[in-house]
Amino acid sequence: ALAASPVSYAAGYPDKTITMIVPFAAGGPTDTIARLLAQAMGTDLKQQIIVENVGGAGGTLAAARVARATPDGYTIFIHHVGHATAPSLYRKLPYNSIDSFEPIGLATDATSTLIARKDFPAKDMPELLAYLKANKEKVTLANAGIGAASHLCGMLFMSAVGVELTTVPYKGTGPAMNDLLGGQVDLMCDQATNTMSHIKSGKVKAYGVTYKNAVASLPGLPPLASSGLPGFELSVWHGLYAPKATPKEVVNRLSSALQHAVADPAVKQRLADLSTDPVAPNRATPDALRAHLKAEIDKWGPIIKKSGTYAD
Ligand code: MLT
Repeated sequence: ALAASPVSYAAGYPDKTITMIVPFAAGGPTDTIARLLAQAMGTDLKQQIIVENVGGAGGTLAAARVARATPDGYTIFIHHVGHATAPSLYRKLPYNSIDSFEPIGLATDATSTLIARKDFPAKDMPELLAYLKANKEKVTLANAGIGAASHLCGMLFMSAVGVELTTVPYKGTGPAMNDLLGGQVDLMCDQATNTMSHIKSGKVKAYGVTYKNAVASLPGLPPLASSGLPGFELSVWHGLYAPKATPKEVVNRLSSALQHAVADPAVKQRLADLSTDPVAPNRATPDALRAHLKAEIDKWGPIIKKSGTYAD
């Protein structure tokens, strides 16, 4: 029999369920975004996309698994800025963030927010900075492991303030949020996607946003950059990938489904409710993600190196 050409392979694609690997625990921001996109993309592709959570090692366990997966379009991957920071944070990774993947497209962008458990004794940024300087040895800071956006944000925050807090790692900020709501951990810097509803309902205290400018959907939260931490800026972008050597036509079909999803009014509304921005459809493309990933690897490399943070 003749081997199927990529074109004929792509013509029948997808003819079975696709799995989207999420590199963090269920219930967190990446999982939330993944489930929204999976549903909308599945509608466009006329196939179900199921989400599988593979948390651990700040997202790098899942990335390693996707890098080894069969490149047939039935395993795809969502990851955020951590895909660009991991190469600088980890001395050894069993994959390369660029070469082991085929970019599908950018998906979303969100600010992070600095939050605390509800009864934490500091009502605003000036009080928080003063409190941390006086009480640093008893304050805990949650994150989702080295390579997580919450880890990056916490690292930037501690270095900007000049304090070292006790960090508490989780497999995702979903479970970390549960502990923060329960009062078991004090602080976290997490994507608005995961914090917005708790900020609005007053279940957590919020001090500021990590975008350079104020965010209209989070009124009253100043940028950290204008509350005593000049230059502070973090934007948590998510993108979709396939394993290296996934046929180009399949990647393009997935990209067109992603473009459809980020333009879907129901997806946009749901994301807006979470203070999360879908990208413009013309950025939900392999070229846009490839360029952004490279730029972010170059941007964060020297910052991480200077911080001296690394994992083996
Ligand atoms: C998650 O989904 O748990 C987050 O994206 C974790 C993080 O990067 O802080």
